[in-house]
Amino acid sequence: MALREDFLWGGAIAAHQAEGAWQEGGKGVSCTDVETAGDNVTGAPRRLTDGVLPGEDYPNHVGVDFYHHYKEDVKLFAEMGFKCFRTSIAWTRIFPRGDEDKPNEEGLKFYDDLFDECHKYGIEPVITLSHFEMPWALAKEYGGFTNRSAIDMFVKFAKVCFERYQHKVKYWMTFNEINNQADVNQHNLIQEGAVLLKEGDDAEYLMYLSAHYELVASALAVKAAHDINPDLQVGCMIGMNAVYPASPKPEDVMNALGAMHQKYWYVEVHARGHYPQHILRKFERKGYDFITEEDKVALAAGKVDYIGFSYYMSFATEYHGHNEKTFDYIPEDFVRNTYLKASDWGWQIDPLGLRWALNWFYDRFELPMMIVENGFGAFDKKEADGTVNDQYRIDYLRSHIQAIKDAVDYDGVDLLGYTMWSPIDIVSASTGEYDKRYGFIYVNYNNAHEGDFSRSKKKSFDWYKKVIATNGEDLSD
Ligand code: BG6
Repeated sequence: MALREDFLWGGAIAAHQAEGAWQEGGKGVSCTDVETAGDNVTGAPRRLTDGVLPGEDYPNHVGVDFYHHYKEDVKLFAEMGFKCFRTSIAWTRIFPRGDEDKPNEEGLKFYDDLFDECHKYGIEPVITLSHFEMPWALAKEYGGFTNRSAIDMFVKFAKVCFERYQHKVKYWMTFNEINNQADVNQHNLIQEGAVLLKEGDDAEYLMYLSAHYELVASALAVKAAHDINPDLQVGCMIGMNAVYPASPKPEDVMNALGAMHQKYWYVEVHARGHYPQHILRKFERKGYDFITEEDKVALAAGKVDYIGFSYYMSFATEYHGHNEKTFDYIPEDFVRNTYLKASDWGWQIDPLGLRWALNWFYDRFELPMMIVENGFGAFDKKEADGTVNDQYRIDYLRSHIQAIKDAVDYDGVDLLGYTMWSPIDIVSASTGEYDKRYGFIYVNYNNAHEGDFSRSKKKSFDWYKKVIATNGEDLSD
């Protein structure tokens, strides 16, 4: 059995990691504009600064200058035969602070032009509304999604986009990897809910509060999209990493289940329109009381049309004798899976985990799915003749696409498309590096901000072109 004939092959990027031009076209400052670069070699994490400070390195200010190179890039995507292209709309190009009444026309026009450029080649844009960014003013002055008023600001932004682009964009997603915040650290909280932690804050409470408001905002946006145009399809976007027990010991198995509960309850709310019981019990135990009757109605009326998810790796957990009733995990529970190899960033390579993930979602929700991110970050080496022999990337993608085909063929999952991450080198979201590269297209720019942003094809470029041309039948190189 082959993949469906209209299978959406493509690639995915995000506005803040690619566009740059952080002060052009009336754009406001976004949360990712105040995140410094980190460094995989020294282990230095990205830092959040209080506004844009002189002397700091903010890689998202320049991205890979997609804002000015998009025509050239879309042309290269078309050459590979892309059927679709996933990116996000920078909220700050449309509402620079978030609380304005009227959108910024110049920002809207930029995406009109980008989407038109895609359609020129028969490429369908697939759009995420909030990919790890919100206006900095909304985070700083209002408290981001810990403030209920962020719901209205997001829905206003979503409605403007649905109305404006309804005839150019069919597939939408609300919040990118909404469940990353389950790990309750400042980086994830700022990217997902723009929560700025202060000394003494209850970070876990703030995470659940902002996640709840985002879920309500998402549901209201889904409903608004359907009211504006019933043809629009709005999905969620979940960061999925299969969680395995490190051994058959029952406590390890239960711990893996606990980790799945903690990391993936968000999709239950998106897809079923209500909270799962284990989270409601947790809220009762902890005295969290922020779900109103009105919220429940909104959640039930705004169930997603499909499940979008990213997949890069799998995890294994080991029980360390804590939380013996809830089996909630702590970071130390995640242990190395000795059966798997890992990337230079420690991401464990597990193609079968992708098949597992497709089944996990489909068994529960029976909704169509789209794999909207999957790829391999590596230190690429440019040879003297200008080529990049990224065989490791081809190997990674081939094994994962094979797993997808098996899930469709043997397990019967309903898969709409696959957008690998990222067809062109861009800034890494977790580390802020340029040198963690994913692309089929090499961008001449590095961590030290050297380079001219020129684009060139890697070995994997022609390989993916053939994969698309044969609808995934020929994965050889
Ligand atoms: C996903 C994000 O988590 O993984 C992307 O949605 C991100 O924004 C991608 O870029 C790869 O992660 P990283 O940290 O290697 O860029």
